[in-house]
Amino acid sequence: MAGRITRRTALALGGLGVVAVAGGGALLWAGLNPADPRTGIPEGFTSGDDLSQPAELRSTGGLLEVTLSAAPAAATIGGRAASVLGYNGGLPGPTLRLRAGDRVRVALKNGLAGPTNVHVHGLHVSPEGNGDNMAVMVAAGESFDYEYRLPANHPPGVYWYHPHHHGTVADQVFGGLYGAIVVDDPTPIETGRERVMVISDITLDGAGTVAGASAAQRMQGREGDLVLVNGQLAPTLTLRPGERERWRVVNACVSRYLRLRLDGHRLQLLGLDSDRLEKPAEVDEIVLVPGNRADVLVTAGSGSAVLRTLAYDRGTATSGGMMGGSRQRATDSDVILATVTVGGDPAAAPAAVPRQPAPADLRGATVTARRELDFAMGMGMDGGSMMAFTINGQEFDPDRLDTTVLAGSVEEWTLRNSSGMDHPFHLHVWPMQIVAQGGTPEMAVVWRDVVNVAAGGQVTVRIGFTDFAGRTVYHCHILDHEDAGMMGTILAR
Ligand code: C2O
Ligand code: CU
Ligand code: CU
Repeated sequence: MAGRITRRTALALGGLGVVAVAGGGALLWAGLNPADPRTGIPEGFTSGDDLSQPAELRSTGGLLEVTLSAAPAAATIGGRAASVLGYNGGLPGPTLRLRAGDRVRVALKNGLAGPTNVHVHGLHVSPEGNGDNMAVMVAAGESFDYEYRLPANHPPGVYWYHPHHHGTVADQVFGGLYGAIVVDDPTPIETGRERVMVISDITLDGAGTVAGASAAQRMQGREGDLVLVNGQLAPTLTLRPGERERWRVVNACVSRYLRLRLDGHRLQLLGLDSDRLEKPAEVDEIVLVPGNRADVLVTAGSGSAVLRTLAYDRGTATSGGMMGGSRQRATDSDVILATVTVGGDPAAAPAAVPRQPAPADLRGATVTARRELDFAMGMGMDGGSMMAFTINGQEFDPDRLDTTVLAGSVEEWTLRNSSGMDHPFHLHVWPMQIVAQGGTPEMAVVWRDVVNVAAGGQVTVRIGFTDFAGRTVYHCHILDHEDAGMMGTILAR
């Protein structure tokens, strides 16, 4: 039978408890471990603790020196003891707080059972030597000293770090290895409290260990049963009426798309990824594909509300369907991420946000080269049951150079998705300006470092290969797809 279950069918079936989940490990979505219909919290877990903040490590005098120890860690998630992975003992890892022009030294210590490394996602830094170099591999028990130098004009905003060792990226991120990076504004924006909100998902088995993923879940891109904010299950935040806060939101999920809503409160988007809007945009909903970040002002209304992520149909990988329980859901239910309560004396009206500099616009630039990248899923090369995830027909090979660009030039890339599910495309080091979506020109100036290429769709981007030369990668940011081979190499010279 045709395996694709639309979100509507799944919802209809959900009440009957028949949509089983793939692989042994996952808590069953419907039927066996029913979520409380009021809170969406799976049975056996608790929620509602005050939202905590990761430790913050701030640069001083233009330098930040930190040690990140990646190792197994003990955590309490939703009131239950869990064995996870963490940087410096927990999930998420510490927030690195930087300024443009900074030097950052990261001593990565590998306390894991296998190899790892670290990538500073979205930072515009050199991919060479001991910079953000994807060829670095740190064996178990070893360490490596990275050093990054942010250009003096590095864009402010929200970035993040996570492991990037090909083949185990999804497992390590799913286990809990991620943390936020904030590059402060050159001219501060007056806000009340600032919060980092690292959103991740995880599945725990009955013993509190992180569940592995079945072959079907890897093809689909695994989604955890628990969606966490700063490692907490549906925590609570309290604001005064009219109080404005600034939230730095990271989508650190391996595969889950976030459609964030906070009805009843005002959301003003300052920027997404390294993009910064000239004036904040009033929004109802913020879509973050895996890897994206949002910088947002939240002004409390008068009543309490929940921060939710809504269902998103990103298509399905499997053709075997639900027979044999081999299909995992794809972001097909709403989840409550946090509760926002409003109380106390009304806050004074916040100051207006100063106008931000106009973003660069490559639409008038001279394009040196045009390329097409085709994202496909097909039968495995070995004819086996694992599906092949390819870019231009090829699976990742670190020793093959796929794309060579001229440092300093501007290129136009058309990203085509001939598969039945969305792929969020990510390029290291250099952000991409979206100039057309599905053949329709983009009128606004939109910069992203992860661009969603919808199933059967296409997106055209322009990239300025400025400031750095060297070799790095681009890939699908559904990390299971990256591990399965949907990644290519690029050299700027
Ligand atoms: Cu966030 Cu190459 O990754
Ligand atoms: Cu990246
Ligand atoms: Cu993908």
